[in-house]
Amino acid sequence: MAHVPVLLAEIVTQLQPVDDALYVDATFGRGGVAKALLEAAGCRVIAIDRDPAAHPAAASLAEQFASRFQFVQARFGGMDKVLASLDVEHVDGGIIFDLGVSSPQLDDAGRGFSFRRDGPLDMRMGGCGQSAADIVNATDESALAEILRTFGEERHSRRIARAIVADRPFARTVELADVVRSAVPGRQETIDPATRTFQALRIAVNDELGELRAALHSAEQLLIEGAILAVVAFHSLEDRLVKRFMVERSNRAPRAHRHVPPAGTPFEPTFRLSRTRAIRPGQAELHRNPRARSARLRAAVRTAAPVNTAVA
Ligand SMILES: C[S@@+](CC[C@H](N)C(=O)[O-])C[C@H]1O[C@@H](n2cnc3c(N)ncnc32)[C@H](O)[C@@H]1O
Repeated sequence: MAHVPVLLAEIVTQLQPVDDALYVDATFGRGGVAKALLEAAGCRVIAIDRDPAAHPAAASLAEQFASRFQFVQARFGGMDKVLASLDVEHVDGGIIFDLGVSSPQLDDAGRGFSFRRDGPLDMRMGGCGQSAADIVNATDESALAEILRTFGEERHSRRIARAIVADRPFARTVELADVVRSAVPGRQETIDPATRTFQALRIAVNDELGELRAALHSAEQLLIEGAILAVVAFHSLEDRLVKRFMVERSNRAPRAHRHVPPAGTPFEPTFRLSRTRAIRPGQAELHRNPRARSARLRAAVRTAAPVNTAVA
């Protein structure tokens, strides 16, 4: 199945592609965003994705846009090194992150992302490192509960972890989903009770929050004055991280009281927020693409201020 990018028109509007500028699409997927940027202006795009399955779509864009497009299979957490290896020190157009999994990843039962399709309990976007089965079968009960609580915001984390440990080992997605469902009390929820456990495992397997943190710092280093940072997040943990980063870097962190200066050493803002609130999909898009439901786009413009290395 193809991937329909969410908030595509809004992403292009925020990035305002211009001729000859360089844009980095840090989450290439099937290339919907990269293609829209390349079509909107005579710009250059360097695309990154950790998933080897992105190669065919990348090859097709390389054929269509020749030297204006380049793809690198890599983690965006190491984006600074990826760009350095291409002799790129600065990005003058913008960097876009369209986070999460793509529809083809979710729809391919063999990848193990979906609790609705039977497949191996894998969930590795890049095909290497620990799989979801490795984590589920080897992590002790309290650490497993902590993963479910932190990355899935799961209220019943301890109860689910207990049930998993009692029934493991697990090899298949549906086996795990069934145990999670039977461990969760009541069934009045609107979402499948396995949703949060699968989200938590996916985040842990792919170190999604660590990757995002590293990438936001790299983006701050790489972007030059006037270039845009844009991020589409699909769950609140990622969106909170992005929002906090942008608010802090634009010096807009809330004060305890309006007469009290903000805590810590004041620093020159490295970003200016394009707008304070996230951009959400409109009714028409929600109707066309239910996957857009939880999407939030945030954007900020890099200022000329140097990166403050004292800020984490
Ligand atoms: C929502 S999809 C992006 C879809 C894309 N914008 C399109 O138009 O097809 C997210 C993509 O980001 C990739 N991804 C997620 N985390 C990554 C990371 N840390 N480094 C590189 N790619 C990552 C996934 O493999 C997936 O292909």
